[in-house]
Order: sequence, then C-alpha cells, then structure tokens
Amino acid sequence: MRILSGIQPTGSIHIGAYLGAIKQWTDLQGMGECIFFIADLHALTIPQNPGNFQKQVLQTAAELLAAGLNPEKCIIFAQSQVKEHTELAWYLNTITPLGELERMTQFKDKAKQFKQNINAGLLNYPVLQAADILLYQTESVPVGKDQVQHLELTKTIARKFNQKYGETFKVPEALTLDLGAKIMSLSDPEKKMSKSMPETCLFLFDEPEVIKKKIMSAVTDLGKTIKYDPVKKPGVANLLTIFSLFDGKPIKEIENNFKGKGYAELKKQLVNLLVLKLEPFRRKKKELLSREVYLKEILEQGRKRAAIIAQSTMDAVRQKMGLL
Ligand code: ADP
Ligand code: TRP
Repeated sequence: MRILSGIQPTGSIHIGAYLGAIKQWTDLQGMGECIFFIADLHALTIPQNPGNFQKQVLQTAAELLAAGLNPEKCIIFAQSQVKEHTELAWYLNTITPLGELERMTQFKDKAKQFKQNINAGLLNYPVLQAADILLYQTESVPVGKDQVQHLELTKTIARKFNQKYGETFKVPEALTLDLGAKIMSLSDPEKKMSKSMPETCLFLFDEPEVIKKKIMSAVTDLGKTIKYDPVKKPGVANLLTIFSLFDGKPIKEIENNFKGKGYAELKKQLVNLLVLKLEPFRRKKKELLSREVYLKEILEQGRKRAAIIAQSTMDAVRQKMGLL
C-alpha cells in the first residue's frame, strides 16, 4: 500500500497538525510504502520571504524528524525538488472545472485572509495537491479533517483523467482519525487550531512555561463537570481530546479520573502531561537544527527515490495525452 502526505513549511508544527496528521504518519511508517514531503510550492501561494525560505524548509524537515519520521522507513523530500509535481499539475489544470476550485473552503478562507494577494496559485492550490497525490499512485492520504474536501476533488480529477485518457491513476482515499481529526483553537473552541492564529496554537516545541500559560488560559465552558460533550462543552471536549491522545487512554477513563474535580485540575494535569510528552520533541529538534548537512542529505536521498516513481508515472501520462 502506498501512503503519502505533505505539510507546508509555513511555521512551526502545532499539536493540532501533529495529532490530526503527523502522528498518523509516524504510526503508518513500516505499514506500507510511505512518502512524506514538504509542500514548499504550496507555501508560495501566500507571501514568503525568499531570504528565509530555505531555512524554513530545513526547519520543517527537522521538526518532522523530531516528531518521529524515520528516513529509513519513509521517503522525505521537498516538493519543489521533484519537477514532475508542477508538470502534472499543469496537465490536471486542463481537466479541472473552474467552478470546483471556486467552491473550495480553503480558497474562500484564504481569499478573505489575503485580500491584497488573491493570486491564481491560491485558486489552483488543490490541483497541485492532486498532482502530488496522483503522481505516486497513492492509495491512502493521512490528513486532518480540513483537507478532506481537497481529497474529494483529487478523486474527481483522477476519475476524470482515467475516463478521458484511459486508466492511468489510482483513486486515493483520505485517512482521517475518529478522534483528533480536528483539534480546536485554545482560545476559540469553535474554530480549528491553526498556524494562521499562532497565539491560540500550542506548538509541539513550546517550552514548559509557554505550555503552562497557553493551557491555563484556554477557554473552557460554563458549568463544572468534566464531561466530553463537543456540542455543549467544546472547550472541555477539546482539552479531553488532547489529554486522551497524548496519554493513550480512552476519554471515558479520563472523565472517570476527574470525577468530582474542576476545570483547573484538568488543566493542571494536562500541563504536566504535555510538559512530559513534548520534552523529547524539543530536545530532538534542537539537536537536528545544528545538523544542516545531515538534513540536506536526507532530503536529497528522498528526492532521488521520489523522482524514480514520479518519472515512471509521467512517462505514462505523457503517452496517454499524446505528447511527444
Ligand atoms: P495549518 O492549517 O495550521 O496551517 P498545516 O497546514 O500545517 O496546518 O496542516 C498540516 C496537516 O495537519 C494537514 O493534514 C491538516 O489537515 C492537519 N491539521 C492542521 N490543523 C489541524 C487541526 N487543528 N486538527 C487536526 N488536524 C489538523
Ligand atoms: N494542503 C495540505 C495542507 O495545507 C498540504 C499538502 C500539499 C498535502 N500537498 C498534499 C497534503 C498532498 C496531503 C497530500 O495541509
């Protein structure tokens, strides 16, 4: 089974992205052929500083390794280094209906957020994502809930291509978790935890004092009982979800442990748990950041392995489309 996913190098990895996507990636390593990449081309759809961009890509590589990706068990590379991604994206653009792109939630959100820079790349973003996935004949794509709409479009594009030019691409499936697919913001539990609001994110590499500050000031709900109810008590439900996923215990058991106790106690114990569980991530990231040559070597090895698969798909695609 081929498994693939990507992350943009647009800031540090937060616990939402970790619990929804990257933890799945680390668990899936060894269960199939895993390909994980840094989506640097996607990141260019929002303003980036060229002088700092390469550093950001290497930092994301360090963070992914610190979070548990093992280059001996998976292919890790930077998207821009395998040129077939952009080539396939162009071909797929020619069969993607404009209306489908215009109704994508992420496009609509980003167009609102970056009013001064609604570039065509922002609209075509999901076509490049479809190319990333189809290029490797991917079967499974582990992602958070917010990416499911892009995956549905990828399936539509794959089917459309296969219909028009003959069977070429595998039709992939999104792989989302029952618990953790959407971790909510600490300050507004109705919204997804997101890098675009850094002050409401808990980053995987935050220092103990920062973890304490962010968790203790997390928004909870009216009432006192610690009960998992995402509709009536979204703040507490979110904290219980984070607790459960880091502790490896079912929500029910955690609820029972907090019987008769208040929100302050839940937060205090969650701080202790997170300080303990996140310590190895911080330590490994620090160590990896000082090994730039090693990071570049891993991305180069990954690029070579990815390119072989990508080139073989592209030979078939060009032939099917009648190109020279
Ligand atoms: P952001 O939306 O904060 O920029 P990323 O683009 O880094 O996050 O997301 C990388 C991966 O993490 C994607 O698969 C995405 O679906 C997942 N993810 C992001 N935020 C969350 C969240 N709050 N809960 C669960 N999964 C998430
Ligand atoms: N769009 C994804 C995100 O914002 C990142 C991404 C790019 C991706 N290409 C992909 C995810 C291919 C899965 C498969 O998180």
